Amino acid sequence: MNIFRTKDVDAMRAATQQQGGLRKVLGPVDLILLGIGAIVGTGIFVLTGSGATTAGPALALSFMVAAVACGFAALCYAEFASILPVAGGIYTYSYAILGEVIAWMIGWDLILEYGLVTSAVSVGWSGYFQSLLSGFGLHIPVALSAAPGALPGVTTFFNLPAFCIMMLLTVMLSLGVRESVRVNNIMVVVKIGVVLMFIVVGARHVTPANWQPFMPFGVTGVMSAAALVFFAFIGFDAVTTAAEEVKNPKRDLPIGIIGSLAGCTVLYVVVSMIMTGIVPFAQFKGVDHPVSLALQFAGEKWFAGFVDLGAILGMSTVILVMAFGQTRVLYAMSRDGLLPKSLSSLNRAGTPIISTWLVGIVFGLLGALVPLQVLGELANIGTLAAFCLVSLAVIVLRRKRPDLPRAFRCPGVPVVPALAILFCGALMAFLSAVTWIAFLIWLAIGLVVYFTYARHRSLLN
Ligand code: ALA
Repeated sequence: MNIFRTKDVDAMRAATQQQGGLRKVLGPVDLILLGIGAIVGTGIFVLTGSGATTAGPALALSFMVAAVACGFAALCYAEFASILPVAGGIYTYSYAILGEVIAWMIGWDLILEYGLVTSAVSVGWSGYFQSLLSGFGLHIPVALSAAPGALPGVTTFFNLPAFCIMMLLTVMLSLGVRESVRVNNIMVVVKIGVVLMFIVVGARHVTPANWQPFMPFGVTGVMSAAALVFFAFIGFDAVTTAAEEVKNPKRDLPIGIIGSLAGCTVLYVVVSMIMTGIVPFAQFKGVDHPVSLALQFAGEKWFAGFVDLGAILGMSTVILVMAFGQTRVLYAMSRDGLLPKSLSSLNRAGTPIISTWLVGIVFGLLGALVPLQVLGELANIGTLAAFCLVSLAVIVLRRKRPDLPRAFRCPGVPVVPALAILFCGALMAFLSAVTWIAFLIWLAIGLVVYFTYARHRSLLN
């Protein structure tokens, strides 16, 4: 039984071309909006708080480092997506190209990435929800306001709002609500509106003295914060999953990917400069709604309320898109026989109902019980590992199958993929030891499941 067996890539390409069902309607602007819709969320609205205490005002540099790593990886992603634009993303591509065991490990890794992103964003959502409630003088009982150990010196048991939003969105997903382009566009406008409002209102309250010293924790601080706020960029791969529906993929895909990354980078850099310009960075310690806190600090209570509301709406869509992506990966793995068949059984609304609820409950509980920083770092290590594998795969595939038509070719192969691996690897190196241990345990469990279960059940048998 060969663990590196592959699906037939030519047959898969032919199948996607035959179906030809999806209309080619998306242009570069749609793609940029799609990307920003999936990207802007907990990273900028929440993690900037602990990012600022890790890097100081140089948090802006951390965002730039993370953006460069994502940029290189994104070019590799785009090439892969343009060869085989099918559901299941890189799990499916690698099954066709790199072999079953690698595909399995990537799929296993993606479960970690997408799942923990939903958990982490639900915690971010909860922080802003509670900030909004407190504006009306309402408070959740402290014990139910956060995960155990999340608030230093306070006894907490369960993050109830985080769990509730996951359940609510799971109900929506099980009814068949998908990432509708129209809802997404409205949310993007709201999110960007709120961020721009923050910039315009906040800029008036900046005290440049707060930027001194700029790099209080040196390069190590900048890199550690970059490894954390990398989370803020997760989601741009949503652009590549739409490859099949793009009018002119060769030109528009790179514009969409680079455009949404560049747009977000500019927003993130400006927002973090303003935040650390208003509030002395040390005061962000333990704060779970740093963007609105900065406006409260500046005395702009009304605008702070708008930021809370915009963040709540914006983060809901990130959870929706990521939870949807998660069920799609499980669906693809189950359809190939690598996971139990029940995970790909559809209800009448065409939703993989068992995997939708499994994801909702498991990652809802994780969001309720594990602190945000831990969830965010784990999601990051999973994603960074996936980016490294994709970049490596681009180099391998150029050698193995130079003949495959590529609607988009990553420039400068093998230098660009090598730089992607270098930058992503460097960010991984700055994540904590606990994160590494948890990640390695997850991979080890994955290998055990593969050799005891998936390998025997695979449809390729
Ligand atoms: N990039 C997404 C966020 O920051 C996952 O919420």
